[in-house]
Amino acid sequence: MSRIHEALKKAEQERAAGHATEAVALPQPEPAPRFADWKPSAVGVVAVPVAEPAPVSGGTSDYLRFDDLRAHCARPEWHLDPNVNVFSNPALSTHGAEQFRTLRSRLYQLRGAQSLRTLLVTSSIPGEGKTFVAANLAQVIVRQPDRRALIIDADLRCARVHTVLGAPVAPGLTDYLRGEADEMAVIQHGHEGNLCFIAGGNDVTNPSELLSNGRLKALLDRLTPVFDWVILDSPPCLPVADANILADLCDGVLMVVRAGTTPGPTVQRACQEMQGRNIVGVVLNAVQDSHLYGSYYYQPYSYGRDAGKVPEK
Ligand SMILES: Nc1ncnc2c1ncn2[C@@H]1O[C@H](COP(=O)(O)OP(=O)(O)OP(=O)(O)O)[C@@H](O)[C@H]1O
Ligand SMILES: [Mg+2]
Repeated sequence: MSRIHEALKKAEQERAAGHATEAVALPQPEPAPRFADWKPSAVGVVAVPVAEPAPVSGGTSDYLRFDDLRAHCARPEWHLDPNVNVFSNPALSTHGAEQFRTLRSRLYQLRGAQSLRTLLVTSSIPGEGKTFVAANLAQVIVRQPDRRALIIDADLRCARVHTVLGAPVAPGLTDYLRGEADEMAVIQHGHEGNLCFIAGGNDVTNPSELLSNGRLKALLDRLTPVFDWVILDSPPCLPVADANILADLCDGVLMVVRAGTTPGPTVQRACQEMQGRNIVGVVLNAVQDSHLYGSYYYQPYSYGRDAGKVPEK
């Protein structure tokens, strides 16, 4: 747990007043035994020059260009929820926006040392702020000139990214994975610069099966070269298996921890669950003074639209 304690300490030093996100990608000089596959990077926040998206090889008919994608994908109206978008709400943006810029810098820094383009945002238990972090991270990326981001709502049990963006939920990923919609029907481009979005889609009863049926991998293979970052929002990794399936399709995993809420042993178990995956950092979310040293509580967790029922594992 030393990393989390270090993050808490760092958050304490850096935080400003208010309910804000402390975005902390935790590069470490030494890999820790608990985080077997932790990939360390240089310490500190450095403005690392950003590489252009890798050129797509060949000139085959499968070649997908961003301009074509933007011209042919869905273009619904988005109405961003100002309560959860730090860049459209001055009250949230003071400190939160800066933390997301820091997170962006650190991710680019990590990318300098490893192949990192598809990023899974997960956490141990529900409600830690995965969707909040994924949506705001995607937005801070496209605030840089010519940067393109795709956010995919891969939480097929409790899709919520569309509510943050004020976008339609369907057609979306479930519809694509079931073969009922093609890629251009499910990719949305709103008015947010170079931000694209694939919503969760219509309700399904077999999310784990759909995520592992091969179609998502094919979709990522095709879309990833078009974007600087592809960010996948996911369910928490302890109650259900989906985040594990998704992590296998992504270059890196960003773990969200809600300060003062998530018990330390639960975070440890989540990291063990992700063993073998490339955990690139931790975002300590919703930091408040009382959370730094307050007592933790534990409660059993369940997840999904039917929280309380036995979840599909
Ligand atoms: N830093 C923050 N500041 C203010 N509100 C936040 C912050 N982080 C999360 N929230 C709010 O807390 C609630 C839970 O956040 P969010 O939906 O992002 O969690 P989640 O981990 O995606 O949950 P789930 O596991 O259900 O998918 C939301 O209402 C969100 O707007
Ligand atoms: Mg969520």
